[in-house]
Amino acid sequence: MSPTPSPAGTPGKRGPSRRGFLIGGALGVGAAATGASVFAANNTTAQAASADTFTYPDLLSGTTSGGVTAYTLQMQAGTHEVLSGVTSSTMGFNGSYLGPTMKWTNGQSVQMNVTNNLGADTTVHWHGAHVPAKVDGGPQVAFSDGATWSPELTVNQDAATLWYHPHALGTTAEQVVKGLAGMIIVEDDSAATAALPSDYGVDDIPVILQCLAVDSSGDIKYNLSGYLTANLKFPVLCNGVNVDSTTLTFTATKTRTRLRLLNASPADIITVSRTDGGTTTQIATEQGYLTAATDVTSIRLVAGARAEVVLDLTAAVTLQAVITTGWVKGGSGTYEFLTITPDASDTPAALPASLNSIERYDTSAFTARTITLSQSGLTMLINGVAGTTMAAMESNMITTTLDAEEIWTVTNATQLEHSFHLHDVPFQIVSVDGTAPTGADVGWKDTVEVVGGSTVKIAMKFTDYADSTYMYMLHCHILKHEDEGMMAGLMVESS
Ligand code: C2O
Ligand code: CU
Ligand code: CU
Repeated sequence: MSPTPSPAGTPGKRGPSRRGFLIGGALGVGAAATGASVFAANNTTAQAASADTFTYPDLLSGTTSGGVTAYTLQMQAGTHEVLSGVTSSTMGFNGSYLGPTMKWTNGQSVQMNVTNNLGADTTVHWHGAHVPAKVDGGPQVAFSDGATWSPELTVNQDAATLWYHPHALGTTAEQVVKGLAGMIIVEDDSAATAALPSDYGVDDIPVILQCLAVDSSGDIKYNLSGYLTANLKFPVLCNGVNVDSTTLTFTATKTRTRLRLLNASPADIITVSRTDGGTTTQIATEQGYLTAATDVTSIRLVAGARAEVVLDLTAAVTLQAVITTGWVKGGSGTYEFLTITPDASDTPAALPASLNSIERYDTSAFTARTITLSQSGLTMLINGVAGTTMAAMESNMITTTLDAEEIWTVTNATQLEHSFHLHDVPFQIVSVDGTAPTGADVGWKDTVEVVGGSTVKIAMKFTDYADSTYMYMLHCHILKHEDEGMMAGLMVESS
């Protein structure tokens, strides 16, 4: 029997709440219906009614007029089961939890229309997008309940897997853990893109992984007092579906399947591998393709990080996520979250020998800068200042000029884990505690792990966009650390 894939967004889709509806009889029809609205199942046969079918966010269709493609995102409250059988108050884009996937193409003009129905200030940041600071969605452009923010931007980067999420001061952790996160796929006209699987939901699959903190009543925690509540559970979710004791199933109708992995957790580290110990073929890091496909046995994703892999399936493959606590408390353990079973007879062509050319920066003439991540009690600091207000951001601004070439020494002066993220431009890892990177770590990054006590050097060029009013951000992507002050502004001024 060969299940027929249904295009994303067509009727017949089933979301995670459907499962809750079946299991948790007390849940209302409305909750089930709204919870399902941004999810599509990969097939529509009887098997699709199974509680275990892999689901993924719908692809958001835009409306193109006058050469500009407009996308509409509604930020709204809802309910969803992050713990099986328990209803949680959540938030989502165009639905109750998570948001639809957007496909952007390099060179395309895009207008986002984002409406805030959250009852609180918010903003939406396009994580990993190389766009002007004014449309980057940092805390400076926060907008209030009832308002619509309509930034226009031109996609200006190579193919990559990005994501979007709120970024207002002090509320980022709360809004993201409640479900406000979605994926952005950037496509380009490169030979690698043409050769790789790209049929969304068929052989190009989004995998949004999260480990949350929830009490038994379903209240999702996001701050220190919440995390210190007794008897917390740390559920693991794949595209919003709890996989604590469930392995989702996906039937691959193509031999080669591409997975876009995103760790959208507030803090925890997620390491993805095959349960059989075999390799997966990594093709991309956060900011684009590797120079060549690289076989890896595991992929370690800190909060905010992404990777792309392909699998050439000759037999079923099960993927597991190993969770490592990233903050004061967190998840742990191994979760077999997805089994991909091939039902295909095609023979894919060999992957291109070269996917990308990455010219390693010669940093000898780059301007050096030091970024120190430290703490004072529970306050998190960058270069000694807690970025918890816009005034602090102004006073601690990192100011550079358009086309500046810089090498940053990012020192973690704490014993805590940090996930260092830079807006605007991709960077290269120059060294980690003095050692040059190898393998996939040579790829373009926007988020990098900086373990307690370590030093990571990164290099970047501030191309294309300058502004003297709007700033970018650099921060720890452990969202509590960001809210607790580990964030600074970056102003790229014209020279
Ligand atoms: Cu994903 Cu500044 O954030
Ligand atoms: Cu970002
Ligand atoms: Cu941190």
